[in-house]
Amino acid sequence: MAEIRVVTSSASYPILIGDGLSSKLGLVTKRYAVSPRVFAVFDAKVFALHGQHILRSLKQAGRPVEVFVMPSGEAHKNEKVLAGLYDFLLKSKISRTDLLLAIGGGVTTDIVGYAAATTLRGVRWSAVATTLLGMVDAAIGGKTGINHERGKNLIGAIWQPRFVLCDLSLLQTLPPRELVAGFGEIVKYAGLIGDPMLPLVSRLLDGDASAKDWQVAIARSAAYKARIVSKDEREETIRAYLNLGHTFAHAIEHSLGYGRLLHGEAVLVGLLGAVCLSMLAEPSSAKRLKGYYRLLLSAVEMVPKRKLKPKDLVRAMSLDKKRVGNDHRFVLLKAPGKPYITTGLPAAMITFAVEQMIADYNDFGGKHAPRTGR
Ligand SMILES: NC(=O)c1ccc[n+]([C@@H]2O[C@H](COP(=O)([O-])OP(=O)(O)OC[C@H]3O[C@@H](n4cnc5c(N)ncnc54)[C@H](O)[C@@H]3O)[C@@H](O)[C@H]2O)c1
Repeated sequence: MAEIRVVTSSASYPILIGDGLSSKLGLVTKRYAVSPRVFAVFDAKVFALHGQHILRSLKQAGRPVEVFVMPSGEAHKNEKVLAGLYDFLLKSKISRTDLLLAIGGGVTTDIVGYAAATTLRGVRWSAVATTLLGMVDAAIGGKTGINHERGKNLIGAIWQPRFVLCDLSLLQTLPPRELVAGFGEIVKYAGLIGDPMLPLVSRLLDGDASAKDWQVAIARSAAYKARIVSKDEREETIRAYLNLGHTFAHAIEHSLGYGRLLHGEAVLVGLLGAVCLSMLAEPSSAKRLKGYYRLLLSAVEMVPKRKLKPKDLVRAMSLDKKRVGNDHRFVLLKAPGKPYITTGLPAAMITFAVEQMIADYNDFGGKHAPRTGR
């Protein structure tokens, strides 16, 4: 088992990563989140697949467990499901010392974390991440929230959990495209971390990696996010590094219409754009980024093909909420492991990077079915 610590000004908590850890969930809650009662909130698909096993483990701790099952999918990360959840918690007379437990992917941990932040002005909560994306990203760092009809994640709060538990065995039931989406974020971390993450991610991509390799890749990714969040909880400075490739990815998702590609799939394509732009912004970086670019081309083969138009993407980028004033803000790389934030790049350079990204995605995208199974 790997144990990683997040230490912010408001909290200090572990991320526990291992195979079969959910069968120890009861003991983990007892150790890291002492509380009279547990309110377990499940994603519906996760409940159907793993609910009984997880509940058995929770009940071993000998405390009452109340259960709420929420519908699966991004479309349900909204105020309607949140209202139902508030109702359930308040009817069951939750107290501030009880534990709200989110068991699911990023949709579940975002909404349950937000319910925890806002019910009784703050209830304890913890996350059992059941998707790869949740394990390396969504469950870590305390960003919680719901979508609004005007946009994604527009309502939210930062409220840190008591622990995050990642059981690799739960990934066996994850649909292949969801695995690729989580893998997209791992490939992003490979760019941010550099060596020794790059050869490891190449091995995962080639399909000759062991379960241990997967655990190490997840732990290194989670540790990177934990380190960044510990230094910059509220995204005032370096937390923005985590957005590597995301300016392009958000534009891709927006121009295609949400849901045509999963977010992590769009990130894989967007990373191509970020690396192209890095090479254009600082031509001396091209040699150092070549190997990472090759890895991205190979990873993008697992992303289904969609028709992207440069004009639509450039327009979508100009709507990005992370822009500073009228200027685009990009996270770029001087080399793998050397991210930086920049503004003021010429529009023609950005357009050229978008065109190159689309050309490479057209050439390589959709060549292979997902092959990241562990
Ligand atoms: N808070 C943050 O810092 C942060 C960071 C990144 C993403 N997010 C949010 O995370 C969300 C995306 O998260 P996600 O990709 O985990 O999506 P998700 O929670 O919708 O899960 C993806 C799908 O997998 C299913 N599923 C989950 N675990 C499973 C398992 N073990 N076996 C079989 N099926 C399973 C779910 O039912 C769902 O259909 C977005 O809403 C995004 O905004 C938040």
